[in-house]
Amino acid sequence: MQIQNIAIDGPVASGKTVAGRLVAQKLGWRFLDTGSMYRVVTWVALARQLDFDDEQALVSLATQMDFRLEGEAGERVLADGKDVTDSLRAPEVDRAVSKVAKVAGVRVTMVARQREVALQAPTVVVGRDIGTKVLPDAPVKVFLTASVEERATRRHKELSQKGGSLSYEEVRNDLERRDRIDTEREASPLMAATDAVTLNTDALTIDQVVKRIMEMANDAAS
Ligand code: DC
Repeated sequence: MQIQNIAIDGPVASGKTVAGRLVAQKLGWRFLDTGSMYRVVTWVALARQLDFDDEQALVSLATQMDFRLEGEAGERVLADGKDVTDSLRAPEVDRAVSKVAKVAGVRVTMVARQREVALQAPTVVVGRDIGTKVLPDAPVKVFLTASVEERATRRHKELSQKGGSLSYEEVRNDLERRDRIDTEREASPLMAATDAVTLNTDALTIDQVVKRIMEMANDAAS
């Protein structure tokens, strides 16, 4: 059987983006990082100095703004025709993005756009609500987890390599704050779908995670 989608969800720095991108490469599929869609709305909202408590303004922005994902694996993000990829992981965006992602009206627009992309061609889709909300019928659903310590260590290392100056403690606090908002929000909170396979990646290398997801994809396709 030909399968169309693999859904990968999980908290901040659980390894879903790296693993998902590699699985997409191996299968020759497209890759959709839905977090980057919430990030691009946040980036434009910051640039336009919108009030993050004004939900209507955020919904209007999400509905009207022109953004596209380009590149072989959808890795470049364009807003109003400008490549903003490198700005999306900035600490200001990290701090504000959960406020945007918890607005139900923003999510309605994002989910519709995500489904449209995911159903056009075989796609690996990563996020927080892919298995529960965006693609509830996906034949392969994975929920990646890891301890807070492991995730904070990974994210701290990644930021330090890019020249960031945040301490481990600051990174960990921010990660816990974002986990809390993502998990406690009313609209599509972060959770594993009942039919998802949960993988704890604390003791797994990225290659082992990829191998496990590829096995699940092969099983689903046979
Ligand atoms: O995966 P990430 O860190 O790039 O996600 C950025 C934010 O967007 C994070 O606060 C969770 C949110 N998000 C979401 O609510 N639903 C998704 N499908 C993807 C991300």
